[in-house]
Parts: sequence; structure tokens; C-alpha cells
Amino acid sequence: MAPVDESKRSLAAVILAAGLGTRMKSKTAKVLHEVCGRPMITWVSAALQEVSPERTLVVLAPDAADEVHSLLPQRVELVLQEQQLGTGDAVRAAGRALEGFDGDILVLYGDTPLVTGEALASLIRAHREHEPACTLLTVEVGDPSHYGRVCRDSDGRVTRVVEDRDAGAEEKKICEINGGVYAFEAASLWEALALVDSENAQGEIYLTDVIGILASRGMAVLAHKVDDPAMVLGVNSRKELAAASGIMRSRILERHMLAGVTITDPSCTYVEAGVTIGRDTVLEPMTVLTGETAVGEDCVIGPSSLIADSVIDDGSSVVASHVIGAEVGSGVSVGPFAYLRPGTRLAAGSKAGTFVEIKNSDVGEGAKVPHLSYIGDSEVGAGTNIGAGNITANYDGVGKFRTVIGSDVHTGADTVFVAPVEVGDGAMTGAGSVITGDVPSGGLGIARARQKNIEGYASNKFGPRREEEKEK
Ligand code: UD1
Ligand code: CA
Repeated sequence: MAPVDESKRSLAAVILAAGLGTRMKSKTAKVLHEVCGRPMITWVSAALQEVSPERTLVVLAPDAADEVHSLLPQRVELVLQEQQLGTGDAVRAAGRALEGFDGDILVLYGDTPLVTGEALASLIRAHREHEPACTLLTVEVGDPSHYGRVCRDSDGRVTRVVEDRDAGAEEKKICEINGGVYAFEAASLWEALALVDSENAQGEIYLTDVIGILASRGMAVLAHKVDDPAMVLGVNSRKELAAASGIMRSRILERHMLAGVTITDPSCTYVEAGVTIGRDTVLEPMTVLTGETAVGEDCVIGPSSLIADSVIDDGSSVVASHVIGAEVGSGVSVGPFAYLRPGTRLAAGSKAGTFVEIKNSDVGEGAKVPHLSYIGDSEVGAGTNIGAGNITANYDGVGKFRTVIGSDVHTGADTVFVAPVEVGDGAMTGAGSVITGDVPSGGLGIARARQKNIEGYASNKFGPRREEEKEK
């Protein structure tokens, strides 16, 4: 990123995040609500780090302070706002920690997760070029309701910001809104902030009143207008949270598409911020990639797959499956309808097919678990083929036990392995066997009752009745 400017003025930043977030109707602090897999506050803090402030302070309410603070870079200083008396009061709380600081103070809100480092940098550049007492980020929107409106005089100079609830009918029509990001010259901020009272509809100490105070004292206030309303979208309700997530989702998908990932239908594909995807991979519709997932090159994911906190190597496919906390090697085929749970490791060229669940197990190179099986706490060696409907009985109601199946083993359909049990390399099991003891290498384990046929049994029992039925 281009440097903010050439001047040597120092920059301190204050993120306000102590608000009650009442409109979220949540037990969780507002700024902890996630947008595409990251808490809102983390997005704001990441954007801020791009402009490299010398100091960053975050204002928090005492009850959520530790949790929120722990998500931020270590050097971010914590400021407590004991009572949530308004945005002006929150900045006053930070003021005590910034005593003696001489330079510019950037104030932003923790509930605007879509603001970018580029937008912050352009605001600071404008501020330093014109050196007003305050530069605020504004944007023209179609529906300005709930936002503070930017009032200007006949010469176009900013005179004040009026909050929605305090605005008169004419002011409510103003479509230029206050984005809630400001660069202040420190001394002017503290002087004006000392004069703010709570004579307004909400009985709060508004930071926005500083704008009117500065302007009425003849000090310059600059509105730095940006084009993209998303930049300042404030999240106050779940509805706005969804709107912000939608925009962030598009940004993330666009980034991947520009980097060479095919996304068949971006309107129904969801990729969280921490996910990486290699070139020429195709994401088919209804695909959800979350957490710290890494997908390699030339993979096909979906349709209808969920992959969370997993690694998928080059050239693998995951069709209509759930993969959680698993490692999938290269050239692996997963699904349709497989469920890979934490601790599953599928080596290169292996397969987990239809209606297959695997947990905490290693499946060796080229090994196949094609149909209707549960493999838990197991090792399956290279080149082994697991027959349809195999089950590793790994749990006796108290403890979990391991099943170890060697390489190049062929297990018959419907084999149950009662763990702990081992099957040697190159061995086989008979269909329908309940394997309770080890099978030696190259041997056959068969454990089922022999078939016996009873001549005439069925015709004697049902034959006469069938004749009667026919006569009716
Ligand atoms: C605020 C602005 C409004 C602007 C809008 C942009 C004020 C008075 N109004 O309105 O002009 O258009 O943002 O999104 O500033 N906070 C504290 N302590 C408090 C109160 C709030 O830290 O005592 C924090 C909140 O956690 C939040 C931020 O300040 O992150 C903004 O507060 P909020 O109540 O959301 O203000 P808005 O009504 O959205
Ligand atoms: Ca807000």
C-alpha cells in the first residue's frame, strides 16, 4: 500500500466498541458478531493496521473487554468506558490515555466492518493535505435513515452533523451521511469535546457534536466523500449484519476469481476470510468453505459441499460431502455423501465414497472406502479395498479402541471389526464376518455361521396357502 503521506505527523487511532449494541438483541457483544468468519472488530482492526498508526486504542465496556481485547494485536491498548454514555464520552475515555499526544487522531467505530485500509489512507491523506481541524468520511446514500446527516451551508461548508433522531424534516432529506470515521487534529478535538453536552433526543454525549462546535468556532471541517456506501455500512441489527456479510462475501469471492479460481455461481457460494484456494480449482454451486481451510490447485469442490478447517490437496474432488478438520491428500475422491470428521487423513489417490463416515483415521495411499462404511480410530494401509458396508466397532460404551488394517487388504462386504483388532498385509475377510481376533498377513478371516439349506421348507409352509389364494 502507498504510504499515507510524506509528513512526519504522528497518528493515533481510537476504535469505539463499547456500545451496548441493543438493536442486535444478543447476549454477545456487538463487535464480536462475525462477518464471513471473523468478528467485526477484527476486520476494523485489520484495515486500521494498513495505515500503521503509532498507537491504537480500543474503547470497550468492562464486561466484554477481555474477550474482545484478546482478539486484537498485542500492542492495541485497552481503554475501559465504565458507562456507555455515547460516542463522545467513549472518546473522552480514550483522551485520558492520550494525554500529551500531539498529532492526528483517527477515530473509527468497531461496527463498520467493511471499511478498508485504502479508504482510511485516503482520508488521512486528504486531512494532511488541507490541515483542517477535522476531516470526516462521508458518502451519499439512497436511504440515509438511522445515520447522522452532514449539514452544509450555502457555500457547501460543513456546519454540523445531526443525528437521525434529532433531525428536522428538511435535515432528514439530506442523503450525505456521516460514515463514522474521522481524522482530528488532537488539540482541537479535546477542546471541542470538552464542550459537548447531552441535550439531545437520546440524552447521549455525541462525538458528532464536535463537528458543529468546531465549525461554529470558525475552524475548518472537511468532508472526505467516498463513492462506495459499503465502506461505512454500520452494523446495528442482524439485518445489517447480513447485508455486511453479503458484501464481504462478494469481495472474498471476487478476490479468488481474480486469482484464478472458477466459481460457477457466486450467488450461492460462501467462502470465509481465512480460506486459501489454488488456481484452476472449481467451486460448484452450494459450496461452503470455512475457517482455516486450504484447498489446492485443480480441485473440484461441490456441488453442495461443506469444508471446515481442512486441507484438500491438488487435484482432489469433494462432491456433496461434509469435511471437518480433515486432511485430504492429492488426487483423492470424496463423496458424494461422505462425512469426514476431525483427525481423518486420506493419503494421495485414496477414496471415501458414498455414505461413508470416517473419523480420526489414516487411510493409506490409493486405499478405497467406496460405500456405506464407518471407519473410526483406524489405520487402513496403502492399496487396501474396504468392502461395502464395513464397520469398525471402535467403542465398547466406555473406551475407544483402534482397528489396524494393513496394506493391500481386501475386506468382504459387511465386515465388522471389533476393536482392538489387527489385519495383516495382503489378508482378506469373508463377507458378513464379525472379526474379533487378529487376521495374519496373507490369510483369510472368516467369522460367520455356515449356511444350511432345508429342502422343501418354504413350499411346505406356504405352498397350500398360495394355492388357496390363486383359487379366490
Ligand atoms: C453513529 C454516529 C452517526 C453515524 C453512524 C455511522 C454518533 C452520535 N453517531 O451512529 O452520525 O452516521 O454512527 O455508522 O456518533 N460506542 C461506544 N460507547 C458508547 C456508545 C457507542 O464505544 O457509549 C461505540 C459503539 O460500540 C459503536 C460506535 O461507538 O461501535 C457507534 O455507536 P452506535 O450507537 O452504533 O452509533 P450510531 O447510532 O450507529
Ligand atoms: Ca452504529
